Amino acid sequence: MTDFPDDFLWGSATSAHQVEGGNTNNDWWDFEHDPATAARESSGDGIDHYHRYGEDFALLAALGHNAHRLSVEWSRIEPAPGEFSHAALGHYRRVLSALRDQGLTAFVTLHHFTLPRWFAARGGWLAPDAAAVFGRFSARVAATLGDLMPYVCTINEPQMVALHGYLEGYHPPGLTNPVLWRRAGEALLAAHVAGVRAVRAEAGSRVGLAVQLPLLAPARDDAACRTLYEVMRHEIVDRYLDNLTGPDAGDWLGVQYYRRQWVDPAAPALFAPPPPGTPTTQMGWAVHPDGLRQMLHRAARTGLPLVVTENGIATTDDTERVDYLRTHLAALARARAEGVDVRGYLHWSAFDNFEWSEGGRPRFGLVAVDRDHDFARTPKPSAHALARVARTGRLDA
Ligand code: NOJ
Repeated sequence: MTDFPDDFLWGSATSAHQVEGGNTNNDWWDFEHDPATAARESSGDGIDHYHRYGEDFALLAALGHNAHRLSVEWSRIEPAPGEFSHAALGHYRRVLSALRDQGLTAFVTLHHFTLPRWFAARGGWLAPDAAAVFGRFSARVAATLGDLMPYVCTINEPQMVALHGYLEGYHPPGLTNPVLWRRAGEALLAAHVAGVRAVRAEAGSRVGLAVQLPLLAPARDDAACRTLYEVMRHEIVDRYLDNLTGPDAGDWLGVQYYRRQWVDPAAPALFAPPPPGTPTTQMGWAVHPDGLRQMLHRAARTGLPLVVTENGIATTDDTERVDYLRTHLAALARARAEGVDVRGYLHWSAFDNFEWSEGGRPRFGLVAVDRDHDFARTPKPSAHALARVARTGRLDA
């Protein structure tokens, strides 16, 4: 008996701005270059994936992957409102063709954190027609690239876009406003629906949403903590999952799981640091493998088939990544054995890359990249550990 079926999807994930390099026409580039923001450094050349995608996909295929998740960069495809770049669309045609030729099933995210500069300037997600404008972009991508996109993800982590961008000020547009936090979340859900409809009108892709589902708990057993915990659980988990009903929900759901978090009204960012003794990562995140199993059960209540579209650890000690992989894959296998319909596992990330406001320091990759010299790629032992499980379907491989 294997732990995973033969048709299980195995792979890893990236996003355009974190790996491509030279994405100078979006809101993140501006955020990175504004000394007043939380961002520490420029995304610069990324890992030059824009030019090296061919060798990158060949490497991932050689590492036993049969699927890969990436995003297309909206600001390249639609550099000005309603003006679509044939060159950029042609580039992504070559990228997705290269993926297919390597036998990798494509998961293509339409919006992964970055907005074209013009879209941000007209109000971003808070502009009244934001969803319709995103729908227009989605339709163009689906019409042009649909034959190469078996799976489309409309929006990456809408709850985190809203939380980081509008409540914590940690991502663009850098706001700290609880009213706009909620409004941005609603707009992103509306944009998902517009994306689902646009993709279905233009292509046969299976379309879904990717949500990050942290395992939340109140930091203490007191009324203030419990109340804030209920608010956070509603805003980050329930509101999004409860909305995924009916035909506009999509065909599948991406679950992204990293950590356990303690809600605390007395903490500056409303989350307490992990209790002493908790294993943590370079990001300071608490490692808790069973949270993946629990959040898969929660996500399964939508009735949608699930794919783990992100899961991973920032660490310079790859033995920690091997351990994180092993324990989280065991939690995933257990959820499946308990009846949860999970069809794939895409590790975050394929490569060490640009970790948003934290810059290049956190190392999430299965593959190291020499970003100071020639961008040479070197698979880490964790890449081989995942390859063994992917090839055999067995956790003890
Ligand atoms: C979520 C995001 O989708 C991805 O862009 C990010 O790098 C990872 N989590 C790690 O923080």
